[in-house]
Amino acid sequence: MRLDKFLCDVLGVTRKEATQLLKSGEVEVDGAVVKKGATQVNDQSEVLWQERELILSGPKYIMLNKPEGFVCSHADDFNQTAFVLLDEPNIKDLHFAGRLDADTTGLVLITDDGQWSHRITSPKHKCDKTYRVWLADPIQADYAEQFAAGIELRSERDKTLPAELEVVDETQVLLTIHEGKYHQVKRMFAALGNKVVGLHRESVGAIVLDDTLEPGEYRFLTEEEVASVWA
Ligand code: URA
Repeated sequence: MRLDKFLCDVLGVTRKEATQLLKSGEVEVDGAVVKKGATQVNDQSEVLWQERELILSGPKYIMLNKPEGFVCSHADDFNQTAFVLLDEPNIKDLHFAGRLDADTTGLVLITDDGQWSHRITSPKHKCDKTYRVWLADPIQADYAEQFAAGIELRSERDKTLPAELEVVDETQVLLTIHEGKYHQVKRMFAALGNKVVGLHRESVGAIVLDDTLEPGEYRFLTEEEVASVWA
C-alpha cells in the first residue's frame, strides 16, 4: 500500500493532509525519514509519526447506546446523525448494521464490515432483536398469542413472522422479533389498537447492550460478540 494512503487510513486525514505530514519530515519508515507518498509499505513495515508507531487496524465493530434525537443515517432537518457520537477516525467508512428511529433508544451496531452487517440485516438470516416497549394502554390477554401468530400490517402483503412477547407489567413488555420492517414494533402495536410511547433495543442476536454504557456512549465489541453473528 502507498504510504500516503496508509496515513489516511490510520490517522483519518485527507490525502492532502497526509502529503503535508510527509513534507514536514515527521514520518519514518523502518528508521528513515520518508517524504514520498508513493513509498510502498506493508504489514512488516515499521511506520512512525512523531515517534509514535502507527498500526493499521482491522475492521471495526462498535456498540452504541443511542440516545433519543439521533438518526441512524445522514443528519436530517431535525436530528443529528448518531455518527457524531463517535470519536473515531474514518467515520465515512462506517455504517449502521440496522437502524433505530430517532425517538428509539438503545443498542445500535456500527461497522465497516459489509458482510458482517449483511448477516444482521438480511431477512434471510432472521436475526433476533429484543426491544423493551412501553405502551399507552394496558396489555391485553391475547397479545402474546397474536404476536406468535403473526400480525397483519397496513400495506404489507405477508403477516409478520412469529414474535415472542414477555409481559413485564401492565404497560411494559419485552418483544423479540426476527425481521426488521420499517417502524415494525410501532406498527405491530398500532395494528392491535395500542400505541408505543417508549422503545429501547436491548439486544441484537447474542449481542446485549452493555449496561455500563450511558446514553451516547459506545465501546468496541469483543471478539466473541463479533463472532456470535456468524454462529
Ligand atoms: N421498530 C420500530 O418501530 N422502531 C424502531 O426504531 C425499531 C423497531
